[in-house]
Amino acid sequence: MSLKAEIEKRKTFGIISHPDAGKTTLTEKLLLFGGAIQIAGAVKSNKIKKSATSDFMDIERQRGISVATSVMAFEYRDKKINILDTPGHKDFAEDTYRTLTAVDSAIVVIDVAKGVEAQTEKLVNVCRGRKTPMIVFINKMDREGLDGFDLLDEVETKLNMKACPLTWPIGMGQRFKGVYNLYKKNVLLFSAHGKQTEEDTIEISDLSDPKLDELIGEAAAAELREELDTITQIYPTLDVEAYEKGELNPIFFGSAINNFGVKEMLDCFVDIAPQPLARETEERKILPNEEKFTGFVFKIHANMDPKHRDRIAFMRICSGVFERNTNYFHVRNGKKMKFSNPTMFMAAKKNIVEEAYPGDIVGLYDSGNFKIGDALTTGEKLTFKGIPSFSPEQFRYINNADPMKSKQLNKGIDQLMDEGVAQVFTKLDTNRKIIGTVGALQFDVIQYRLEHEYGAKCTYEGIALHKACWVSSADKAALAELKSRRKKNLAIDKDEKLVYLSESAWTLKMAEENNPKVVFHTTSEF
Ligand code: G4P
Repeated sequence: MSLKAEIEKRKTFGIISHPDAGKTTLTEKLLLFGGAIQIAGAVKSNKIKKSATSDFMDIERQRGISVATSVMAFEYRDKKINILDTPGHKDFAEDTYRTLTAVDSAIVVIDVAKGVEAQTEKLVNVCRGRKTPMIVFINKMDREGLDGFDLLDEVETKLNMKACPLTWPIGMGQRFKGVYNLYKKNVLLFSAHGKQTEEDTIEISDLSDPKLDELIGEAAAAELREELDTITQIYPTLDVEAYEKGELNPIFFGSAINNFGVKEMLDCFVDIAPQPLARETEERKILPNEEKFTGFVFKIHANMDPKHRDRIAFMRICSGVFERNTNYFHVRNGKKMKFSNPTMFMAAKKNIVEEAYPGDIVGLYDSGNFKIGDALTTGEKLTFKGIPSFSPEQFRYINNADPMKSKQLNKGIDQLMDEGVAQVFTKLDTNRKIIGTVGALQFDVIQYRLEHEYGAKCTYEGIALHKACWVSSADKAALAELKSRRKKNLAIDKDEKLVYLSESAWTLKMAEENNPKVVFHTTSEF
């Protein structure tokens, strides 16, 4: 098959949601459609159970499981679909943000009873910032929840989306009868825990057809007609171009656990979701159909077995063909590298691959050569954009608790930071190291892993910080002045970029006012 045909065949996306909305269940149903798995329950939930929040080892174990479910591929209607898993737990939000750099579109799952939740809002914001096309699946229609119109309102106000309902529910909870498919113009009847069969789909092209009253009852039919009338007046019809630009969001209603409404969404996804898209680098735009191979690392997963300190670097192929046992150029360290066991994940199975194409994700065994954001090419020097570090929310000084092991400690910190577990800032005045994380959990994870994987011991010491902002200025003198006046607030990150550590929102505001020629950035990419 030609490179062009391989590209056209692929769709790479991520499912995002607040924990418990039904991401794992939906993923599993999608894999069942694709025949990638045969039985329900085959996809291990990689979500971090609430009860385990106090036990970080459990969380690490569960993260271990997530290696297998990091990328799941299946074939459906002649397309190769790659699902990238995203942890819903807020302490791993950075992992999710980075994974979203490797997708071309996203599906957002919302629980009908809970409506739009905090984590959904955050993740949708990240996608919107990148103009990622998004489809929304409103789940758990077999339960009582918010009214359909109220949900569409929430989607528009809280998620800033332009809603375009493509299915519409007929009742909900006990009274849930099915959905009307505005996209295909047919009624889909609901059977609880049903294996949805084709016969459940009844063609009704004319809403005034009395067949509708027979099927769902006169009252429900009258309500549906009225609601659909309102929908067609208020909401736009599907405009694929607007969806591709991230300006219109198709909405589906269903129940993942009952496998209801899932196929309708999947069919629409296959029709409209974009094939692998171009990627920006600092040097130029990379088009997928360029013959020369390029790819970037967006996630690094450590081996949970302390005896094998190797890691898996997940790389998204951006252009050309990636081949096994072929020399490629590691841009950051200027070395040639080849890979004898590049891996792809088909549901829970790992396979060694000979070739991979744009949109595919390959797992590369790594002994410490990769950092998040690293590029592999056939020789061109490229720096991929859009994989920034975000300002952490929690900060602590890290101290060496065993002076004989400072080398191990530094190596451990370096490698864990390359993996993206947390960020380290070295203060300009004292040279002390500060660890910044998104959630409190990572502090325990770092301490445990330093001890068990690197033989180093650390302790933490509290520090009251609000934010770390990367600073830049076109005026060298202004930066020099900031450095001389506020040395105690300045540090460098792992790439030696200058960072301002502010104690509070107020001190940050003051610093901005006092240094008008300096720009304070909340992400490392500007
Ligand atoms: P997540 O990955 O987004 O965190 O959610 P997950 O799929 O694990 O689903 C969270 C809970 O919601 C699960 O129940 C799951 O069975 C349930 N669920 C998913 N889809 C539907 C649906 O369409 N209707 C209803 N009523 N429930 C749904 P659980 O009790 O937390 O876990 P389990 O014991 O069922 O695995």
